[in-house]
Amino acid sequence: MSANREQFGSRLGFILAAAGSAVGIGNLVGFPVAAAKNGGGAFLLIYALFVVFICLPVMLAEISIGRHTQHAPMSAFRSLSSGHKGWTAGGFLALLTPYMIAVFYTVITIWLFGYLFETLSGNLDKLADPAYFGAFINTNDIFWYLIAVNAIVYFILFSGVKDGIEKGAKIMMPALFVMLILLVGFVLTLDNAFAGVRYYIVPDFSKINASVINTALSQAFFSLSLGMGIMITYGSYMQRDDDLPGSAKFVAFTDTAVAFCAGLLIMPAIFSFNPDIDTAELSDSSVGLIFTFLPKIFLALQANIGYGGASAVASIFFLLVFFAAITSLVSITEVPNSAIMGSMKYSRKKSLSMLAVSVLVFSILCIYSFGRADWLTSFMSYGGANKSFFDVIIDVFYDTVLPLNGLLSCLLVLFHWKRANFHRELERGAPNYRHSFLERYVDVSLTTFIPVILLVIFLNTVAYKYFGVSFIG
Ligand code: PFF
Repeated sequence: MSANREQFGSRLGFILAAAGSAVGIGNLVGFPVAAAKNGGGAFLLIYALFVVFICLPVMLAEISIGRHTQHAPMSAFRSLSSGHKGWTAGGFLALLTPYMIAVFYTVITIWLFGYLFETLSGNLDKLADPAYFGAFINTNDIFWYLIAVNAIVYFILFSGVKDGIEKGAKIMMPALFVMLILLVGFVLTLDNAFAGVRYYIVPDFSKINASVINTALSQAFFSLSLGMGIMITYGSYMQRDDDLPGSAKFVAFTDTAVAFCAGLLIMPAIFSFNPDIDTAELSDSSVGLIFTFLPKIFLALQANIGYGGASAVASIFFLLVFFAAITSLVSITEVPNSAIMGSMKYSRKKSLSMLAVSVLVFSILCIYSFGRADWLTSFMSYGGANKSFFDVIIDVFYDTVLPLNGLLSCLLVLFHWKRANFHRELERGAPNYRHSFLERYVDVSLTTFIPVILLVIFLNTVAYKYFGVSFIG
C-alpha cells in the first residue's frame, strides 16, 4: 500500500466527486425517457428498488475493494487475488472499459460543448432545425471543441485528486443542483406542464414486463457508474476512517434524486410543447433527445419568453448537462490514469499526457466514424445492422460489459477477499454498520442472487445485441 497515495480532503469531497461521476447524461436524459415510456411511477418504483437492493451492495463492494487495496482496478484485482492470472485479466477488463468509455463520452461531451457555445452565441434557431445535428458532427469546428473539452478535463485532472477532481466537483455539483432546480421551477409554470408530471409519475403497471425490468436494472447500474472501475478508483482515494456505507448511500440517493428531478424537467417541457405527444415516439437514445428534440422545444419557448429568454433556458440546460458530463468524464479518465501512475510509477503529469494523446487519437477515430471515413463508418456488422466505430465502442463497453465487471467485483469479494474482511473494511469509520440490517442484507444478497442477476443480464445483452435473440421478454 502506498503511504503517499493522493486522497480526497474530506468525506464531502468523496461524496461530491462520486456523485459527480454518477450524475451524467444517463440521469439527465436517459432516465426520464425510460421512465416515461415504461410505466411512469411503476418504472420509478422498480428503479428505486433496484438502486437500493441490487446496486447499493455492488457499489459497496467496488468502493471497499478500492479503499482496502489502495489501487486502481487491475492492480486491485491482482492484489486481492494474490496475483492470480485470471483475476488480473478480469481487472484488465475493468480498466479497458473506462478507457474506451472515456473515448466515446469525450465525443458526446464535445457535442454538448458545441451546442452550449452555439446557444450562447444566439444560434438556438439553427440547432432546432432537425437536419442541423447531422451536419454539425461533421463540421471542422468539432476539432476546436475537442481541444476545449480536453483542456478542461485535463486541467482538472492535472491539478490532482484534492485540488482538481474534488475542487471541480465542489464547484460544478452545487451549480448543477441550482440550475436543475431553477429549470424545474420554470418548466412547471408552462401550460400543460402538469400533464407531463402526471404522465411521468402516475404508475401504469400494465407496461411492466421482463424487458422493462431489464431496462430499469441496466439503467440503475450504469447511472451509478458501476462496473466502470470508477468506484474502485475513487474508493482508493477515500480516507481510511470515513464512513463508507453512509457515503455510498448518500451518492446513490443523490444520483437517484437528480434522475427523478430531471424527469420533472424533461416531461413537462415535452408535454407543454405538444400535449398530445405519444411518448412511444420519443427516441430511445439520449443523443437523439438532447441534440434534435430538445432544441425544438427550447425554441418553442420564444412564444412565451422571447428568443432571448428561450436561448437563456437552453443555455442553462446545456451548461447543466455539460457540467454533469465533465464530472463523469473526469472520473472515468482518472481510472486509467491512476492505473498508469500506480503501475508504471509515472508522475501524474506524464501519465496524463500519455493518456491525453491516446484518448485524443481514439476520439478522432470516432469523429471520423460519422461519414468522414467509410471504414470507420461501416466498421462492423452484427445483430443485423451495420455499426460504426463509435457504435461498436458503445455496444461493447457501455452496453455489454458493465454487468460483467460488476459481477467480477462481487465474485472477487466472495472468493478471494472473503466476506469477513469485506465487512471489516465497511465497518471502519462506520461502527453502526456492524450487525446492522444493511450488513446482513449485503452479505446475503452478494452471496446469492446479485451475481446470478448480473450474469443473466450480461448473457441476455450478448444474445440480444450480437445474435438478435432475447431470453428476457
Ligand atoms: N453515471 C453516468 C451517467 O449516468 O451518465 C455514467 C457515466 C458515463 C460515468 C460515462 C462516466 C462516464 F464517463
